[in-house]
Amino acid sequence: MKIAVFVSGGGTNLQAIIDRINSGELKNVEIALVIASNDSAYALTRASDNGIPSVVMSVKSYPSREEWDDAVVAKLKEVGAELIVLAGYLSLLGAKTVKEFSNKIINIHPALIPSFCGKGMYGIKPHEAALARGVKVSGATVHLVNENYDEGPILLQKCVDILPDDTPEVLQKRIMKECEQVILPKAISLFAEGKVEIKNNIAYVKE
Ligand code: GAR
Repeated sequence: MKIAVFVSGGGTNLQAIIDRINSGELKNVEIALVIASNDSAYALTRASDNGIPSVVMSVKSYPSREEWDDAVVAKLKEVGAELIVLAGYLSLLGAKTVKEFSNKIINIHPALIPSFCGKGMYGIKPHEAALARGVKVSGATVHLVNENYDEGPILLQKCVDILPDDTPEVLQKRIMKECEQVILPKAISLFAEGKVEIKNNIAYVKE
């Protein structure tokens, strides 16, 4: 299965996918392309270090959002992407991309949706909000993507306990390592095995 991975920043989730492919844990998956929203994303270096093709497609460098959306769809079709993985991608995909790849786009979010999600809730912010609210567990969610932030069907979630000395940064690191980097490769593997089913806006894992 060919996947395209969208990134905006450090690319630790991209690295987790690369590592699982290289170790043989993630079978029948090839990263056909990495698409970055900006040229300073360190994820681009991770792609080139691993011989993975990458491209920067920033909405700002197109005359309109529609033209950017068209170009993204054309690029995804050109490389034969069968699954789109948003791995720390901080922009909203275009309507055409979402429609063309309906139920074939997943996102990793650093909180237990429906808590601490939606527009503006990215990076460190969900962790700051979780600690400020005093929750006792937090974690990460892999969900299908529709045209709104963090609203598509939930596929996988994993949680960790909040510990007494947690700061947003400490919690973020723990959730990245113990939750995100576990459930994102797992979700890709479920797609590769044809085990994901969506019915009435609910995602199911077929046994
Ligand atoms: C990750 O924590 C990811 O869950 C989050 O951005 C970080 C990217 O890290 N995504 C969002 O907040 C999306 N709303 P990475 O570039 O090192 O994978």
